Amino acid sequence: MDGKISRRDMLAKAALVGAGALAGSLISPKAEASDDESLMKQWPWPYVKLDPAVTAEIAYQNWYNLGCGGTVMFSIFDQLAKKIGEPYKSFPVESFAIYEGGIAGWGTTCGSVNGAGTVISLIVGPPTWEDRSKTITSDIFDWYSHTNMPVYVPLKPHANKDSIPHTVSDSPLCHVSVSKWMKKANAALGSEERKDRCARVSASVAYKVVQYLNMIHDDKFDKEHANWSGPIKSGTTAQYNCADCHGKNVPKPPMPKKPTAGE
Ligand code: HEC
Repeated sequence: MDGKISRRDMLAKAALVGAGALAGSLISPKAEASDDESLMKQWPWPYVKLDPAVTAEIAYQNWYNLGCGGTVMFSIFDQLAKKIGEPYKSFPVESFAIYEGGIAGWGTTCGSVNGAGTVISLIVGPPTWEDRSKTITSDIFDWYSHTNMPVYVPLKPHANKDSIPHTVSDSPLCHVSVSKWMKKANAALGSEERKDRCARVSASVAYKVVQYLNMIHDDKFDKEHANWSGPIKSGTTAQYNCADCHGKNVPKPPMPKKPTAGE
């Protein structure tokens, strides 16, 4: 024995002699779980106001390491790690690089809005009125889909230095958003122009997220700020523009059976 007693030994002993006997003497309850661990479990996470423009430039520059989703999260969490500390310091934000390309290149939800939703859920937290984090996330999806993107102009652009084509995706899907832009710009997926465009889109989203978080922080967000008109009532999980994919004959999902007498 080297004289050190592991936590597991302690717990075994505590089980033998009764936790109560040890709690007051050797083990203080605080030392049981690390502070970082318990902070990580608190939800929502603390927030101090950030500058949307500063955040956007961080997001733009780090897109090149972390992709769209990772950079939206990093641009906010890295600043909060420096200003607040935990739980941001221990949070492996780089792991969200997996959101790139609509998750691992599958072209599903654009990583930037996926990252936005994750940040909002962690900071805004569980529903306080009618699921606030869901409303804000929906608002961002709606704004993303209907905005002539990209909005943000970087201080130090990597490409498209003179001008950049803009497109409205009408969809939060990476595949739709990126492909429509590539068509208009006549730029390939691997081109510097396309990368700069997606970095700018991520920066635009990070800017928007911080605007919302600041509003929430000042308790200035209420339903009047929400552009989103409410949950979709189509009978299936979907975005609104059914006809974009289905054409004129939008199929009808099965609807709940009307209760009959006796049911
Ligand atoms: C991003 C493209 C997209 C959008 C937008 C979309 N769908 Fe679909 N949907 C699909 C695809 C792809 C399938 C699978 C089609 C198949 O299997 O033939 C499907 C299948 C369905 C099905 C079941 C299969 C069928 O063909 O009957 C229903 C019902 C449906 N969609 C309804 C809707 C409704 C209602 C909306 C709008 C509220 C909507 N969809 C929006 C792409 C889309």
